[in-house]
Amino acid sequence: MIFFFYPEMSLRDWANGVLSWYDLTVNGQNFVDGVEVIGLLNFVYYNPTKVYFGTGVNSQVGEVVGGEFKKVLLLYGSGSAKSSGVYDDVVKSLRASGVDFRECAGVKPNPVLSKIEEAISIIRRDGLEAIVAIGGGSVIDSAKGISAGACYDGDVWDFYKRTAKIARVMPFFAVATLSATASEMNCTSVVTNESLGVKTGLTDNALFPRVTFLDPSVQFSVPAKQIADGGIDAICHVMETYFDGTSGVDVQMEYAEGLVRSLMTLIPDAIRNPRDYDVRAQLAWASANALNGTTWAGHAGKGDFASHAMGHTLSAKYDTVHGESLAIMMPAWMEYVCAGNEHAFARFARRVLGVTSPVDGKASREGIAGMRKFFESLGAPARLRDIGVPAADLPELADSTAFAPIGVLRKLGRDDILAIYRAAF
Ligand code: NZQ
Ligand code: ZN
Repeated sequence: MIFFFYPEMSLRDWANGVLSWYDLTVNGQNFVDGVEVIGLLNFVYYNPTKVYFGTGVNSQVGEVVGGEFKKVLLLYGSGSAKSSGVYDDVVKSLRASGVDFRECAGVKPNPVLSKIEEAISIIRRDGLEAIVAIGGGSVIDSAKGISAGACYDGDVWDFYKRTAKIARVMPFFAVATLSATASEMNCTSVVTNESLGVKTGLTDNALFPRVTFLDPSVQFSVPAKQIADGGIDAICHVMETYFDGTSGVDVQMEYAEGLVRSLMTLIPDAIRNPRDYDVRAQLAWASANALNGTTWAGHAGKGDFASHAMGHTLSAKYDTVHGESLAIMMPAWMEYVCAGNEHAFARFARRVLGVTSPVDGKASREGIAGMRKFFESLGAPARLRDIGVPAADLPELADSTAFAPIGVLRKLGRDDILAIYRAAF
């Protein structure tokens, strides 16, 4: 049986906390949480994004975009695109290739629906043909929403709430300035509807960037705090798919362990040596690979993503930075689901953190403590109270996350989620 890993399930659903793959028939057997499905399953790997990687690649934006389009929307955030010089390079390149553009600036971290709607109206008003997005995950995620909404007569939020399916999109190009989410190489868009107070995700094969320009040297200006937040996000992306109950797929496990080990070296290196090109380049490529579809190809579980779901609830309510939300929720989740899954956590502890205990229970506990310590060493908050969450809010947070069970390694209902928030407090 062929298992289509990208189009209809997995990430599309995790971001909304609606994990719908529990009862999938996999290789003729029912997969339910807690049951290991062993081996590399059949899969379809699809990642059509063409990546221009390296110093100076942004000078090719005009030539690549201008080969097909002559009037585009230039989308960016609040100031870094201009202060880092990327905006100037892209504009120069577009002009040199005769590409006319309109601008939409001010995409904020934890991007909001209203900015997507604003951009769609500029595209319609000025008859634009494509989008060039300069920024990190927030800008690129917004470009995906704009790309779908610009070709749809209804409300773009319909796609995020799954009442409409994407039929057509406007092509978009990403000029990545920050390595964290891998949005530059995947087809997920995570957006907050500020009027509903909901942060949710949309994954659709139509939403891959057509081309991504990834020049690590433009990331010299990314500050230490942002390197830490983005790095923690990339590590957690790998861990979400590593801990999804899959086993017997050594090539994937080793790949994931190597990615996390590399990230754990590169993140502090980049903080210490912000202008070291080689470090920035490796960090950029590792982050892109952490969530571009490779780590979970052939996995039965397709990623757990319960920590992400609980983190998104925090971002929707308190505008919590995504990486901070994960630094708090991921270790709390690990502690909660470890019982019964010690072998996987012990393997991670030994291979990634150098834990030597031969006893799985002890090794897994040491590994979880090691991850927590690593996140703290980067300056990330460890507890919900550190980011100002009031204890009285915890039941409401659990209610907001638990409109459907979340998690794959262990299916979590409302009481489990509340217990994890309490443990994280
Ligand atoms: O707004 P500007 O001025 O551009 O500043 C940004 C922003 O303040 C700054 N920045 C970007 N490039 C820079 C820079 N500062 C200095 N030099 C540069 N070269 O960094 C700040 C954060 O930017 P943002 O795009 O918000 O960060 P990130 O890339 O971490 O994206 C986070 C968003 O992506 C979502 C998160 O939930 C969050 O909303 N995610 C997207 C995913 C995906 N598409 O697959 C998966 C993730 O799990 C995540 O949910
Ligand atoms: Zn993430």
